[in-house]
Amino acid sequence: MFKINKELQEQSIVMEFEEISFKVGPKKILKEVSHNLKEGCFYSIAGCNGSGKTTLLQTLLQIKKASSGKIYLQDKVENNAHYFSYVPQNTQLEFDFTVEEVVMMGRYPYYSGITGPGKEDKEKVKQALKLTDIEHLSKRLVTTLSGGERQRAIIARALAQDTPIMFLDEPVSQLDIYHQLEVLNLLREIVDTQNKTIVTVLHDLNQVSKFTDEVMVMDNGEIAAYGPPHEVLSPSLLKEIFRVNAEWIYTEDHKPHLVFHYHHNKK
Ligand SMILES: Nc1ncnc2c1ncn2[C@@H]1O[C@H](COP(=O)(O)OP(=O)(O)O)[C@@H](O)[C@H]1O
Ligand SMILES: [Mg+2]
Repeated sequence: MFKINKELQEQSIVMEFEEISFKVGPKKILKEVSHNLKEGCFYSIAGCNGSGKTTLLQTLLQIKKASSGKIYLQDKVENNAHYFSYVPQNTQLEFDFTVEEVVMMGRYPYYSGITGPGKEDKEKVKQALKLTDIEHLSKRLVTTLSGGERQRAIIARALAQDTPIMFLDEPVSQLDIYHQLEVLNLLREIVDTQNKTIVTVLHDLNQVSKFTDEVMVMDNGEIAAYGPPHEVLSPSLLKEIFRVNAEWIYTEDHKPHLVFHYHHNKK
């Protein structure tokens, strides 16, 4: 389904999707979703449980086949794995691979089974282990890791893959606060210094606002709103879509910060 869009006017658009739908039987899980992604831009997807965030990522990656719609890319794609990396929401790693071996899997799309990994592959793996703070775990079996350590190994695998577009589904949900901030800072730095495009599902709307350039708010299979987080995440939108009362306050360093007030508000 990937097409090269010769009409993409703006050079900076790396992916455009148009009216993507995903149906299960008569149920529409994604309803004609359209958007474009630019290089050097950090996107977040926010939305309630079941709003279609994971399904959107998986149809864009073609792990799930869209019922209809079009996806355009800048370049001809011969191997999806050279273009996209993916950190799934819940990764099961049941086999006895070491952390280093799992991260090296990110390099599989680049070398043949005969030659094995080269110097560059080994260097990228080493870098990814360092950036995700798991060098000390490199020889450990992944089956022995904690949830958060395993998640960092999966993120390292995606970094080693070194693709222009990265999709991450709730990458920090299982991490302690230090490693949440470390991973988000790292993703921000990758976008800024390497001009990559990153799309990540996040639940913490303050992280959405502090780290990402643009948020897509999903609601019931649609992108209900998108744009700069501070503009999009208005009290009225937060009330309507997330069912919370919220206000923006300014912290001592003059940064906007969302504060939530819970009132029982059943849908
Ligand atoms: N294969 C499927 N069969 C039936 N329902 C599905 C299937 N895949 C997803 N869904 C439903 O679609 C909705 C969106 O799911 P998902 O994209 O995982 O939501 P999110 O990631 O936003 O929490 C949910 O209600 C989920 O139960
Ligand atoms: Mg999900």
